[in-house]
Amino acid sequence: MRVQLKGDAICTLFLVIALCTMLYSQLGHTTIREEKRSSQRKPPAAPRMFHAPIALQEQLNAEVTAAKPRINSEVKHARVGIQEDPVTTPSTVTPSAFDFKHYLRSKDNRKFELLVNQPKKCRRNPDGPFLLIAIKSLVEDFDRREIVRKTWGREGPVNGMQVQRVFLLGIPKNKTSLPMWETLVRQESQMYRDVLLWGFLDTFFNLTLKEIHFLSWAEEFCSNAKFIFKGDVDVFVNVENIVNFLEKQDPSEDLFVGDIIYNAHPIRVRKSKYYIPESMYGLDVYPAYAGGGGFLLSSSTMKKLSKACGEVELFPIDDVFLGMCLQRINLKPILHEGFKTFGITKPSAAPHLQTFDPCFYKDLMVVHSMKVAEIWLMWNLLHNPRLSCTQKKQVKKVFQWKTRAKRHAKGYAA
Ligand SMILES: *[C@@H]1O[C@H](CO)[C@@H](O)[C@H](O)[C@H]1NC(C)=O
Ligand SMILES: *[C@@H]1O[C@H](CO)[C@@H](O)[C@H](O)[C@H]1NC(C)=O
Repeated sequence: MRVQLKGDAICTLFLVIALCTMLYSQLGHTTIREEKRSSQRKPPAAPRMFHAPIALQEQLNAEVTAAKPRINSEVKHARVGIQEDPVTTPSTVTPSAFDFKHYLRSKDNRKFELLVNQPKKCRRNPDGPFLLIAIKSLVEDFDRREIVRKTWGREGPVNGMQVQRVFLLGIPKNKTSLPMWETLVRQESQMYRDVLLWGFLDTFFNLTLKEIHFLSWAEEFCSNAKFIFKGDVDVFVNVENIVNFLEKQDPSEDLFVGDIIYNAHPIRVRKSKYYIPESMYGLDVYPAYAGGGGFLLSSSTMKKLSKACGEVELFPIDDVFLGMCLQRINLKPILHEGFKTFGITKPSAAPHLQTFDPCFYKDLMVVHSMKVAEIWLMWNLLHNPRLSCTQKKQVKKVFQWKTRAKRHAKGYAA
């Protein structure tokens, strides 16, 4: 009897151990353990999550949970992570393939040749342009550049102030998708005199290089511009509002205005597109930075930033990098409600609200995530002389309510 009981106990114990071992080895394969495991073994080259669209959705969900931003920033993530519309953002590159070690190793390689220049861009009139519009674009996004040229990015006087434009380009990553890209750039340069091309690969993580190279170009070739607007090609910009705002500012004083994000924390979730390991950024909070959709700076700030950014170590998220440069020169960026760099989404609490209403955009400066047709239409609606906005007050109220729920795409708010 005693022997049999003992035998049973041993048997049960054995089964429990076997079960535990099985469970443990199963757990070992999930990403939850990944961080602990990585110190023992090499992490897998690329988590399998990033290969299928369904997995990407999972990634988005995970990111949203981890990063706390809601609908609005999801728009941005979606745009950035999935090719859901014709915009070829540099970031269509599988983010998980980002090699931090390689990035750290080649970080000192930060000077690339200017292959296409517009040396006379800012010499058209002796005083230089009042506003230089600089737009990040990919060579492949020809249609986007065209629509910007025809609408808000027009060169010439706006409210009597001279506006000039440049597009900032790098070498396309996938050359087979547009084999004649060099001819295209040359032709655009001849026709419009508005493209700058540098000799680095135009990828999401190289946008920081674009920032640095643009600032040093501006310092060398456009130091007489009073103000600079820098933004994305998929934004709608109300240049009239921007000029009105800038007319009250002094270009020889510091000015940096945009959709400023304060106290964002680095995302430590490996799966996230904006994942930053502690080895790359050890602090718990990013300096204040402007959403990359669009921001304004004065001539004086441009020169200081150009110098400061040359001294700050490269960081793969360009918006945050610029925030680091601002911190270096001890300049506080200014938040302006007119900059909607996370786009506008219809608040679920007010489904009746008509967001595609020109009166909605009349008081804004920058709206991010717009389709080509939306940019064209909005610009034309806004420039219709018969446009009258009587319900302005109501619209404004909704915006104040909305902006309180601030979104953070690249870090998350405490
Ligand atoms: C490059 O673009 C071509 C044509 O659009 C596509 O078939 C190919 O898969 C792309 N290559 C890469 C590496 O993305
Ligand atoms: C940035 O551009 C350089 C030069 O073309 C290239 O070697 C490097 O791989 C690019 N880096 C990233 C992160 O895409």
